[in-house]
Amino acid sequence: MNMVKSDLVKSFEHFNVVQHPQSNRLYHIELKDEAVAAFLEKHRDTSPQQLEYIPYRRYVIANDLRKVLGEDFSKMINEVLHDREFGGFTLGIGKVASSDEDYVKFATAITHLIGGVNFDAMSGKYYARFTVKDTDNSDSYLRQAYRLFTLHTDGTFVDEPCDWLLMMKFAEENASGGESRLLHLDDWEELDYYANHPVASTKIPYKSPASKNVSKTVYNNTFYEHNGKTCIQFIDQFAYPDTIEQAEYLKSLSESMESSSAVVELELPVGSLVVLNNTFWLHGRAAFEKHPDLHRELLRQRGYFKKV
Ligand SMILES: [Fe+2]
Repeated sequence: MNMVKSDLVKSFEHFNVVQHPQSNRLYHIELKDEAVAAFLEKHRDTSPQQLEYIPYRRYVIANDLRKVLGEDFSKMINEVLHDREFGGFTLGIGKVASSDEDYVKFATAITHLIGGVNFDAMSGKYYARFTVKDTDNSDSYLRQAYRLFTLHTDGTFVDEPCDWLLMMKFAEENASGGESRLLHLDDWEELDYYANHPVASTKIPYKSPASKNVSKTVYNNTFYEHNGKTCIQFIDQFAYPDTIEQAEYLKSLSESMESSSAVVELELPVGSLVVLNNTFWLHGRAAFEKHPDLHRELLRQRGYFKKV
């Protein structure tokens, strides 16, 4: 198994980097409370709507976070996300911040140190907030609490790069279960078999349900090469295979990933976020236990790496 690189696990003036307690593929960043408070105070009068309507303000707020935490912070998170052995980190501001507005501002600052955001057609803006509760009548697994949301990558039905994904927990009440399930591609025992299968490079049509507000069909290879490494794009719900062979391949691939012993069920406290490289990390969600007052809200942002 890989070891966390010692040159990244260290203390900086305004933050510490440690190995994530649940995965040696992830880092956890402990931010100093004073630094988070200073950033939020500087943007006390900035509203999420300003960030939504005036795109350049998202980069301005990112620059202010970089000024508070130091250039080392920005360099470190980008290095982690691009590193094939890792590609993900968690951090939290729940001790210092508690308002939804602060969470939106902070998440936006983080993502704009990484790159640019994709428009989220489901919400009609650059981020989406979605709630999981006891009842649901939507048209995908996203908000259905009591079933396993299978491992997948994001952005499969849009025709633009989706290099990374951020998820931040805004609220959680009466929630037992429902952990984020994560799988690093290189930890999946049967990667070689599925990546070298004849159907692996077949273009599969992907279409999204009405709630996603994307009507176009896109065609994805399940596996592709990037920087000499195998990457994946897959989600079971939106793939429309043309043949029995393709369908059997996708079904068995999904089952193999779900049963991998390398799946991590991530604990994410309220006010915490996880950022993953979406080209070689898969994510999903365990089923919640039934509760009439179940309530959980997440924010997501997705986008592309900045061009360097
Ligand atoms: Fe997703």
